[in-house]
Amino acid sequence: MTPEENDLLCRVEGDAPMGKIHRSFWIPACLPEEVAESGGKPLRVRLYGEDLVIFRDSAGRLGALGEYCPHRRVSLAYGRNEECGLRCLYHGWKFDVDGTITDMPSEPADTRMKQNIKHVAYPVHEGAGFVWLWMGDRAAMRPWEPPTWAPTADTTIAVVRLKIRCNWAQVLEGAIDSAHSSSLHSSDFLGVPVDKAEAHETTWVRPSADKAPRMVSQLNGWGFRYAAIRRPLYNEDTHHYVRTTLFVAPFYVLIPPNATYNVAQALVPIDDENCWFNFIAWHPTKGISTQDWRKFCHATPGVDLDPAWVPRRTRANDYLQDRAAMAAGDWTGIQGFTFQDMAMWETMGPIAQRSEERLGVSDLAVVQFRRQMVAAAQAVVDGKPVIGTAEPRVPFVKLASFEGVVPKNVDWATLGVDEVELALRAQAAE
Ligand code: FES
Ligand SMILES: [Fe+2]
Repeated sequence: MTPEENDLLCRVEGDAPMGKIHRSFWIPACLPEEVAESGGKPLRVRLYGEDLVIFRDSAGRLGALGEYCPHRRVSLAYGRNEECGLRCLYHGWKFDVDGTITDMPSEPADTRMKQNIKHVAYPVHEGAGFVWLWMGDRAAMRPWEPPTWAPTADTTIAVVRLKIRCNWAQVLEGAIDSAHSSSLHSSDFLGVPVDKAEAHETTWVRPSADKAPRMVSQLNGWGFRYAAIRRPLYNEDTHHYVRTTLFVAPFYVLIPPNATYNVAQALVPIDDENCWFNFIAWHPTKGISTQDWRKFCHATPGVDLDPAWVPRRTRANDYLQDRAAMAAGDWTGIQGFTFQDMAMWETMGPIAQRSEERLGVSDLAVVQFRRQMVAAAQAVVDGKPVIGTAEPRVPFVKLASFEGVVPKNVDWATLGVDEVELALRAQAAE
């Protein structure tokens, strides 16, 4: 990749084409638990290089406003959340959830300024375990749609949330890089002769120990699906162990499930050099506990993270890597597979220099992602439609990953695929 292509792929601030792509979708901005209280403390959230405050007003409505007061640029994060609005401490200007100024006590009663100024405000939707913002063109706003992790309104989900100190795209590339799990996570993900992957107290087991998967992929209007095909630990002659992962533009990855969890990631940019890692777990029938999920990932706020989701392990403290544990047999010396990943993402630097890499055949999905999204950014520059927005489209809720040991003659590209998508594929082929 050239440095220019790398910028097209990674940069999302201001007018960057990739930022425009992201802003053509509803963006998971924070968790409802962070703004639970009506009239409570406003939450500072930085997204796409913009500083915002999200608050729940005294009537329970959610608002997302620019953090800095339009009068003299004071932070509204310190404001008074009172009687259906957020009031700036400095001169008392008061803002509604939609950015309308409802009071301006420092100006004469007949001032026109109140009507003439509208503060930055984004439409908000609460659902599927997140507070979502529409940060794009208001005229092009599409109705919010349920994601795959909340197939019904009462599906319980659990989220591990981390503030990561590097660009969103290199975090996403970790999620579509099936080959790394056999090395980086080899002390946590064990190959044993089971039927399906399982989650145990501290480890995940899977029915294969093959470190060099064969990769195949299939491009779609919404992103791509790829499979890592491995030799299983039993029935090796007749069966494959198949794990399919979906990249759903612009920033979702659906990871192969196991018997306890279905898993997805939403990698949302904070700015060009930082992002939110949202690791989402759910199960269609068994339910799930947020506490257990965070404990399993070693990502409990107050224990492994500070209250603003900043991990205790950092590059400055070498991610608390334990060399003695490595000498005793642990692969990384870093506890918690999420933090093993985090150390890999962050040590590439704030924005990975992709022009300096040497890629192999196991990097197929990473290459696919880069090609597809650089082309999508270029299309935006050329005034063409945004990837994943053309109708008819497969609703997000219909997309799913797959894992299992299957007979060799089964077409991997049909595994876990919903009828809606199969019908659209057939239509496209006609
Ligand atoms: S700076 Fe906010 S009211 Fe003056
Ligand atoms: Fe990983």
